[in-house]
Amino acid sequence: MAGIYIHIPFCKTKCHYCDFYKSTDFGAKTDFLSALKKEIDWRKHELDGESIASIYFGGGTPSVLKIDEINEILHLIDTGYQQEEDIEVTLEANPDDLTELFLDRLNTTRINRLSIGTQSFNDHDLKSMNRRHNSRQAINSIKGAQQAGVQNISIDLIYGLPNQTLADWETNVEQAIALDVQHISAYHLTYHEDTVFYDYLKSGKIKELPDELSLDQFKLLLNRLKSAGFEQYEISNFARNECYSRHNKAYWERKKYLGFGPSAHSFDHKTRRWNVSSLRKYLQAIESKTSFSETEILSEQDQYNDYMITSLRTKWGISGPYLKENFDPKFRRFFQKQAEKYLTSKHLRYADDVYRLSTEGLFISDKIMEELFFIE
Ligand SMILES: C[S@@+](CC[C@H](N)C(=O)[O-])C[C@H]1O[C@@H](n2cnc3c(N)ncnc32)[C@H](O)[C@@H]1O
Ligand code: SF4
Repeated sequence: MAGIYIHIPFCKTKCHYCDFYKSTDFGAKTDFLSALKKEIDWRKHELDGESIASIYFGGGTPSVLKIDEINEILHLIDTGYQQEEDIEVTLEANPDDLTELFLDRLNTTRINRLSIGTQSFNDHDLKSMNRRHNSRQAINSIKGAQQAGVQNISIDLIYGLPNQTLADWETNVEQAIALDVQHISAYHLTYHEDTVFYDYLKSGKIKELPDELSLDQFKLLLNRLKSAGFEQYEISNFARNECYSRHNKAYWERKKYLGFGPSAHSFDHKTRRWNVSSLRKYLQAIESKTSFSETEILSEQDQYNDYMITSLRTKWGISGPYLKENFDPKFRRFFQKQAEKYLTSKHLRYADDVYRLSTEGLFISDKIMEELFFIE
């Protein structure tokens, strides 16, 4: 089973932390949609009849699309791609786009999961991130989606924000829990180059949170969500009643996926391919039927390293038999040698031939991953 990712490269404004590929110039939206449809049509042979279990509209801001535009894309996929009956179709949405009209018409599409970019319920933080919505709008958009009958809702939150206290973060987490959603993704703020926050950091206008406070915020998140019945199934992802993101779970399980649109990635076990991160170049290449992507053939070492990063992050962990069946014995030997000290320190747990991060291990997962990486 495979997945489809569709990158919608438009945002009405740019958030101060975000380095996803996007443009605020909507002038090329019509051309983009026709180029996107061509790409979807051209690449339908790539799945070799394998059926699709998830479609994910990401961005950018997919909720800037009109319902009819979403439907046209989905109909095109219907004509060329075999799909599972219970396919998960997710739309990333910004709270300010989830108007009553949009939500009313959403059930004329096959979208059955919304991932709402809430980020925070604190007006001051939302303003400093340059979000277009305030806390009240965020809450109303989630309640509106629930009232409109969307049964699978995820919300995104960011913590580790400049000046964010533990109490601020606690209020956010409590508010998220009170909204009774099925899924929460909570990411620690990353300062990416070419973002306003990065420039502020370099010029001293804002400061990174101290590591201990970041860790306390993460611990608080784990404790509160656990007591509220959420299962942490990946470092930053929490679900109630096994409402995992099927799409992201497939990434972590290294299933095949096709990515359409500028900057979208594709993966087919042995190769990784990425579309050009420029709308202009993408449009030109589609128009002239020339290449708009680069491909990397993954060596066995790349595949082993990929397996480490993706599996260790999840509750399903690193499988001993999988390592044995899929990699040269030198990789398993290397893994066992590197894992040993973390097993002794109890940052890693080993049960049923699977290695998983313990709660303590979650707090130093980056360091553990780094050491499990094979570099020749
Ligand atoms: C493609 S982005 C945004 C989707 C949608 N356009 C929105 O703004 O709600 C997906 C998520 O990544 C997270 N994210 C993006 N940049 C981040 C950063 N620098 N640090 C932490 N989380 C980030 C945000 O939570 C965001 O909602
Ligand atoms: S967070 Fe979302 S809305 Fe903000 S710039 Fe990034 S993609 Fe656009």
